[in-house]
Amino acid sequence: MRTIAHISDLHFGTEDPALEEALVEDLAALAPSVVAVSGDLTQRARESQFASARAFLARLPAPRVVVPGNHDIPLFDVVRRFLSPLERYHRYIDPEADPFFHDEEIAVQGINTARSNTWKDGRISERQIIALRQRLCALPAGHFKVVVSHHPFAPPARDPAPPIVGRSLRALEVAAECGVELLLAGHLHEGYTVDVRTTHVSLRRSMIVAQAGTALSRRRRGEPNAYNVVTVDPPRLGVQVRAWAGGRFAAAAATEFRKEGEEWRRQS
Ligand SMILES: [Fe+2]
Ligand SMILES: [Fe+2]
Repeated sequence: MRTIAHISDLHFGTEDPALEEALVEDLAALAPSVVAVSGDLTQRARESQFASARAFLARLPAPRVVVPGNHDIPLFDVVRRFLSPLERYHRYIDPEADPFFHDEEIAVQGINTARSNTWKDGRISERQIIALRQRLCALPAGHFKVVVSHHPFAPPARDPAPPIVGRSLRALEVAAECGVELLLAGHLHEGYTVDVRTTHVSLRRSMIVAQAGTALSRRRRGEPNAYNVVTVDPPRLGVQVRAWAGGRFAAAAATEFRKEGEEWRRQS
């Protein structure tokens, strides 16, 4: 069994310091197998915001798989945005934008979907899709495989409007071929879980999309600050939301899935 703490959209620059301390404590008590951070670490990609994000990440349990979000690329500084979009991210957070972690049970592949030319919407490149296949298809059978990106692969089931990451179907075909079971992302500041085939009906098997809300930012969209705790215990998969309530992070909605053949079936 493995546990993944999935946090997203920290947006340092708009963070609530009380939540920051509480999240550090909550994650220390949880002691997850790995922490996945799905982008938007900063609000405006400023040096001071990256410095705060780095200091925060250093207080979290390791290992950590961190990917950038669109807010981690400068928006108004056009020269920096196009000539060195992730220079500060690499300097403060991680020299690798597509990080990879695996142990004997789980593999987590980060994919940078943030782009200078489509600042808000994300994209996956052909090079990244080739790298995804090389990494994940090469792993021995039995690993539970996870992809972490900032931009989502599927919108909420109740609202198909939000855009999804560019080249998502091509990437998902490779992910399905290589046995990926779970796709973690953020960007929408809305937590939900959905089978990716709700959107991508042509895929040969199901994968679970688990979206995390914003963990720390005051810029919420009708939901409390929250993060997800994913329990990987094949053939079971659990997604427990921990939401800010009464001055602490506490258990909120929980979703359980069970894999039957090629299908993830929702149990609750
Ligand atoms: Fe965000
Ligand atoms: Fe975003």
